[in-house]
Amino acid sequence: MASMTINSVNFGTAKGVKFEYVGLKVLQNVTCEKPHSVKFAPRTLTVNAAKAHSDGPVKKMGKSDEECEAAVVAGIVPEAPPVPPKPSAPAGTPLVTPLPLSKRPRRNRRSPRAAFQETSISPANLVYPLFIHEGEEDTPIGAMPGCYRLGWRHGLVEEVGKARDVGVNSIVLFPKVPDALKTSTGDEAYNNNGLVPRTIRLLKDKYPDLVIYTDVALDPYSSDGHDGIVREDGVIMNDETVHQLCKQAVSQARAGADVVSPSDMMDGRIGAIRAALDAEGFQHVSIMSYTAKYASSFYGPFREALDSNPRFGDKKTYQMNPANYREALIETHEDEAEGADILLVKPGLPYLDIIRLLRDNSSLPVAAYQVSGEYSMIKAGGVLKMIDEERVMMESLMCLRRAGADIILTYFALQAARCMCGEKR
Ligand code: PBG
Repeated sequence: MASMTINSVNFGTAKGVKFEYVGLKVLQNVTCEKPHSVKFAPRTLTVNAAKAHSDGPVKKMGKSDEECEAAVVAGIVPEAPPVPPKPSAPAGTPLVTPLPLSKRPRRNRRSPRAAFQETSISPANLVYPLFIHEGEEDTPIGAMPGCYRLGWRHGLVEEVGKARDVGVNSIVLFPKVPDALKTSTGDEAYNNNGLVPRTIRLLKDKYPDLVIYTDVALDPYSSDGHDGIVREDGVIMNDETVHQLCKQAVSQARAGADVVSPSDMMDGRIGAIRAALDAEGFQHVSIMSYTAKYASSFYGPFREALDSNPRFGDKKTYQMNPANYREALIETHEDEAEGADILLVKPGLPYLDIIRLLRDNSSLPVAAYQVSGEYSMIKAGGVLKMIDEERVMMESLMCLRRAGADIILTYFALQAARCMCGEKR
């Protein structure tokens, strides 16, 4: 039974009866509704009138209301603190006449500041990227302080538990695959008992409501370190790669993945993966498309973490040119038409304009990936005491939200969520 106290609320007229309640305790089965929208039938309201009217004030302080009013009317006014003196400015402050401004935006930055905050962030907005390997131990990643290749059976499970404790219930998995399993066609990517499917099954067993995102691309499985199959002349083969990606996505879905995330930038892969998932009965599995993924130098530490540097050349024939803006719109329209559920922009902070572009041109949720290089720069600046790591971390995440990101993939997910929960470690 919910109970609320309504003070001095005029309910208006209903069925010709005027309800004017002062200091009433209303007991009813509702959460707070706007007073004028209170419905009177058929719900039974138990209204207990406060004792004020019948028995006088609840607490007797001395004089009655009438006596107090009479005293003020007679000019005997009780004391209250005086109007505070004008704060003085430092000596030497110039004396000026106030500027005739009709708008002073600084007024709204005074006390009600929190009420006017336009953007917010919570642990629910974060997705935690985690590196996994076959080992038993957790191996620190040199270029990413605080990040590890986690043992899939122990370290990973613990890390996910810690994240869930502070409200981060979404993760994305990146596997470090043994070199001996890498081939030029990346077939290990769809081994149903490979590292990723095995890990998904273990995590879903431990934490059934965990939201698991997976990476769909061949690079961790490719002996060439490319996201697609490489022809002998160095060309990355599009449609043949898409064929492999479909098998990879289905294999991940079969293991229990909630959101498969193609990061490969091949053309037409969203539609093909959607069809493959549907054909196998995975209509409920979502696709987060790396819609605008740029050929960025900010991925350096990640490639070190997974030992996934391309063996030759670069990724510029499939990842986008950092100089391009309009091209992101072409990808957006394609991905929407092909059935993507979430659109991702990567990297994050240097590409805020692209996040805003997608936000303004699509109704789909937008994700931003704060990539390894962005993480490492903030960490390094913090370690060197050049910046306040925690504040810069939180500001960078808030800015990604302000630009239009619904969710943020960030290696800071655990640290930031702890910060939001008021935990300092
Ligand atoms: C590869 C992939 C990369 C990242 C995520 N998926 C690297 C790349 O494209 O070379 C980078 C993430 C990061 O830098 O944090 N499919």
